[in-house]
Amino acid sequence: MKKYMIFMLIGLMAALYATDMVVNYANGDMVSIPVDQVEQITFEQYEMVTVEGIELQWRTDDEFLYVNVSAPTTGWVAVGFDPTNQMADANIIIGYVNDGGEVIIRDDFGTSGTSHASDESLGGMDDIADHYGMEENGTTMLHFRIPLNSGDMYDKVLVPGNNYNIILAYGSADNFTGFHTMATGTNIDL
Ligand code: HEM
Repeated sequence: MKKYMIFMLIGLMAALYATDMVVNYANGDMVSIPVDQVEQITFEQYEMVTVEGIELQWRTDDEFLYVNVSAPTTGWVAVGFDPTNQMADANIIIGYVNDGGEVIIRDDFGTSGTSHASDESLGGMDDIADHYGMEENGTTMLHFRIPLNSGDMYDKVLVPGNNYNIILAYGSADNFTGFHTMATGTNIDL
């Protein structure tokens, strides 16, 4: 999976100066791709939306949803799928990078319009399959992978191609309890 992680900035810088773009994969591989194919390749891998400074990238395969989410904060960042009202009933993933550079991430559920709790504390499971993240220049980026259908009642069944409301938020604290600096939302086609 990691081989698909494209470092876009490096690629776009290369695209400005060459007819081929160098794509650096997270596993260390580098490939050279003709510039006219770059957009196609990028968007085949990840769709992207930016709302109020929060950038969400996503893609699916038969089993998983892969997400990169970043926000202008050194605190927590979260995305929630399929809420009913504000945060209620959303399948939330929330995380932060602590001062030691460690990613602390949790599978949550919107327990009301204004509250959320970990799936585990509600009797469900933490279904985040893998994750990593980083904090750089005041921005926190989280990457994670979750099953499209975990079977957990505190997750939502996600169907590629369907349209979902999503919520996006970030806060300034390295914890799961601090209020948001920004909370917003949009809808996306998975
Ligand atoms: C413990 C942490 C959190 C607390 C205490 C909290 C609290 C609240 C409260 C009191 C409201 C209603 C007032 C307002 O609109 O500002 C609210 C709204 C909202 N929250 Fe949270 N929240 C938390 C975490 C989150 C997370 C993790 C998300 C997203 C994944 C989120 C998304 C939203 C959204 C989208 C709204 C609606 C905003 C609007 O209607 O304009 N919140 N939250």
